[in-house]
Amino acid sequence: MLPTLIQSVAEMQAQSSTWRAQGQRIGLVPTMGYLHEGHLSLMRLLRPRCDTLVASIFVNPIQFGPHEDLARYPRDLQRDMELCAQVPCEVVFHPSAEEIYPENFRTHVEVSELTENLCGPFRPGHFRGVTTVVGILFNIVQPHLAAFGQKDAQQALVLERMVRDLRMPIEIVIGPTRREPDGLAMSSRNVYLQPEERKQATALYHALLLAEKMINSGERRAEKVVAAMTELITHEVTTPVIEYISVVDRQRLHPLESLRGQFVIALAVRIGKTRLIDNMFFEV
Ligand code: PAF
Repeated sequence: MLPTLIQSVAEMQAQSSTWRAQGQRIGLVPTMGYLHEGHLSLMRLLRPRCDTLVASIFVNPIQFGPHEDLARYPRDLQRDMELCAQVPCEVVFHPSAEEIYPENFRTHVEVSELTENLCGPFRPGHFRGVTTVVGILFNIVQPHLAAFGQKDAQQALVLERMVRDLRMPIEIVIGPTRREPDGLAMSSRNVYLQPEERKQATALYHALLLAEKMINSGERRAEKVVAAMTELITHEVTTPVIEYISVVDRQRLHPLESLRGQFVIALAVRIGKTRLIDNMFFEV
C-alpha cells in the first residue's frame, strides 16, 4: 500500500502530535527525493526501531548556491512513493517551498567549526541551509529518531552537533554508504553522469581503498596518503577538478597531519558538470 502523502505543515504537525500522545515512537528519514537504495537502507535501519516511519521529500532551495543544480535536481514523486511503500513507511511528507518558507521567514540555524572545512568553503551557505531545514523538519515531524547517510559525512556530523548543542531530544543514526556494484557511492546526482564519466567516477572509491590499504600497511602521514589519492584520481579521470582530498579528525573536522584516533578521509571531485563526494571513517 502506498504511504499517506501529507503536504501541509499543520497536518503533519497535528498527525505527529497525535502519534506522540498515543505513545508511538516516530522515525524520520529526511530526503530530497529521487530515492535510491541509500535512502531505502536508512528507512530499513529505522523501521524496527520505531512505530511510525516518515520519509520527508523536500528539495530545499536554501541549501543550493546560486550556480548549483536546484532547477535540474531530479524529481519523481510517484516513483518515490512506490519505493517508500516497499520499506514500508507510513507517511511521505512532501511540503512546498512556500509551506516551509512562508513570507517573512527570517530564522536560520548555523553550526560553526564543523562547517568550515571540506565542503564548507566550496558551498557557502549550504550547511546553514541544511541545518535550518532539518531543524524545521524536526519541529514539524517531531521524530524520536532520524537517519542520515554516511555518504554525506560532514552533513551527518554537523546535524549530530546541532542536535547535541540545541538539546533536541532526537537520536541521530548514521547509516553506512550504499554503493553500486563497481563501488560508486549511491547519489541522486549520479544520473547527471555521461556514460564515460560514470565509468571514471569509480576513481573516488578506488582512491579511498588505496588510502585504506596504505593505512593498514602502517602509513601515518596524511600528506603521503593524499598525494597517492590525488595521483590515482588524476590517472583514472580524464579532466578531474579535485576540490579537496582531506584527512580530518572526526570530532571537529580539522585537518590532520598525522593519522591517529578517529578520523575521516573525504574528497570532492567534479567530473564534467557533476560534483561527486565520498569518504571513509577510520580508527587507528
Ligand atoms: O541529504 C539530503 O538529502 C539533504 O541535505 C537533507 C538532509 C534532506 C536536507 O535537505
